[in-house]
Amino acid sequence: MDRTQKRIASQPLTSSQSTEERALPLTHVAIIMDGNRRWADRKGLPRLIGHKEGVKSLKRLVKHVSAAHLDFLTVYAFSSENWQRGQDEVDYLMELFSQVLKYELAELAENGVRLRFIGNLAGMPAQLNRGLAAAMEDTKLNQGLKMQVALNYGSRLEITEAVGKIAAEVQAGRLSCSAITPELISAHLYTKDIPDPDLIIRTGGEMRLSNYLLWQAAYAELYVTAVLWPDFTPAEFDRALAEYSARQRRYGGD
Ligand code: IPE
Ligand code: IPE
Ligand code: MG
Repeated sequence: MDRTQKRIASQPLTSSQSTEERALPLTHVAIIMDGNRRWADRKGLPRLIGHKEGVKSLKRLVKHVSAAHLDFLTVYAFSSENWQRGQDEVDYLMELFSQVLKYELAELAENGVRLRFIGNLAGMPAQLNRGLAAAMEDTKLNQGLKMQVALNYGSRLEITEAVGKIAAEVQAGRLSCSAITPELISAHLYTKDIPDPDLIIRTGGEMRLSNYLLWQAAYAELYVTAVLWPDFTPAEFDRALAEYSARQRRYGGD
């Protein structure tokens, strides 16, 4: 294995230090943005306000990681299980996603962000779905941060869809069973041309993945903080990166 991966780095990512300069390679950070409603509860505010504050937190972070030249950032915004929430909350979130597309896209595009949405997008409201497709098209040539937003995303759904596509190719005689490899499965996921995450950060303190990037996370380093998503600052992000830098990634080797 690559010995450089075992070296211990101690410095957090700062805007003056690019990710390539770090001893432990870091290409892709994925985040489970959790704790919006608890944040609002603690402040005695309506719970939906927590989601609105969550958007502000994400904006702040995108600026930070763009400046620091991180290659890939993937954030979990709405899971395929989140439809089980109250209708008012689901409606509010869909409206919030539409508003973000309408008012934030220009700034993201100006900053060179390439946006992708991963998940079962066909299951999103039709008008929003069209907006998501347009945003991906409009930013597809951008050279800056490659940002994925997981919407109506669930890993089991993603893997199930991939298995279905592969089975259809086998059935049609275009693929033999012996050609089914881990790489082939990866190539049928929503994340097909995105490297696996190096680091998964979860805010809000829960020690679980909640159906997020289960396949891709095989060797991701995990970092859980009790900080609730609306309170997650660039400094907190740098703290996570500093801890990541001190990890030893062995991939099953010695
Ligand atoms: C994360 O915050 C946002 C979404 C899942 C849409 P939550 O809404 O799960 O807030 P908590 O975890 O209940 O505090
Ligand atoms: C995970 O958070 C999904 C998102 C952050 C979008 P949840 O709040 O839905 O996860 P659980 O219910 O605590 O596992
Ligand atoms: Mg939650």
